[in-house]
Amino acid sequence: GDVAVLVPAAGMGVRLGPGAPKALRLLRGEPLLVHAVRRVAAAPSVGCIVVAAPSDAVDDVTALLGPLVASPVTTAPIVASETCGAAEPKLEASSESPLLPGSPLLLVVAGGASRQASVAAALAAVPAEFGIVLVHDAARALTPPELVETVADAVRGGHGAVIPVLPVVDTIKEVDNSGIVVGTVDRSVLRAVQTPQGFRRDVLTSAHAAAVDEHTDDAGMAEKIGVPVHTVPGSEAAMKITRPFDLAIAELLF
Ligand code: C5P
Repeated sequence: GDVAVLVPAAGMGVRLGPGAPKALRLLRGEPLLVHAVRRVAAAPSVGCIVVAAPSDAVDDVTALLGPLVASPVTTAPIVASETCGAAEPKLEASSESPLLPGSPLLLVVAGGASRQASVAAALAAVPAEFGIVLVHDAARALTPPELVETVADAVRGGHGAVIPVLPVVDTIKEVDNSGIVVGTVDRSVLRAVQTPQGFRRDVLTSAHAAAVDEHTDDAGMAEKIGVPVHTVPGSEAAMKITRPFDLAIAELLF
């Protein structure tokens, strides 16, 4: 596979209520991150996955993901190197029988204070050979591998930045500070944006290097540097698990 996937998973997930970091919350008995990584790794194009874990949970996350791949999981925040082989494995995979069909290189790095910082930390660890980089939230735990392929295909086909989108079903209104409606937005031109978001590697690197303020997604940074962002159809299964209600829906989707 020519695709590296960055998985920011260092958020605390306060909107889900008190407890473990969001990516480590259980869905049908397994952490959201495990569900997300398993589906990403099942996409044939994916040759490398870099997870940004909470800084105090790097070892735990490494141990958690070990059984998912055949090759050893690397925890060191390694600097981008010439080949995958240059990464020094710190922990042997605990499993004799990998659960996954493909076995991408799996790296775990410490995330940062913001999602953007976590993505930047993961990006710095991607080996040089990967020319396509996707960014995928651990919170979108049930994203189908097919969506990963669709986004990667669009980047391979020549688009510098690609996002999966869905039409907006609710009417959207702008309100002022006191909650009074200022206006109604034309829904037909709006799209809800999902992950994975795909980039030519140099586009993502430049976008992060140029970013001055915080962005909620990586395509927003690409827009800022003038790169056209292509859209592909998203998937309802790629819903973001943010609130307790979302977790309940995700449980039912199994
Ligand atoms: O907070 P939000 O819902 O936007 O988080 C989206 C994704 O970014 C989640 O997977 C979360 O774990 C990740 N994140 C991160 N580092 C942070 C904050 C969020 O990796 N400091």
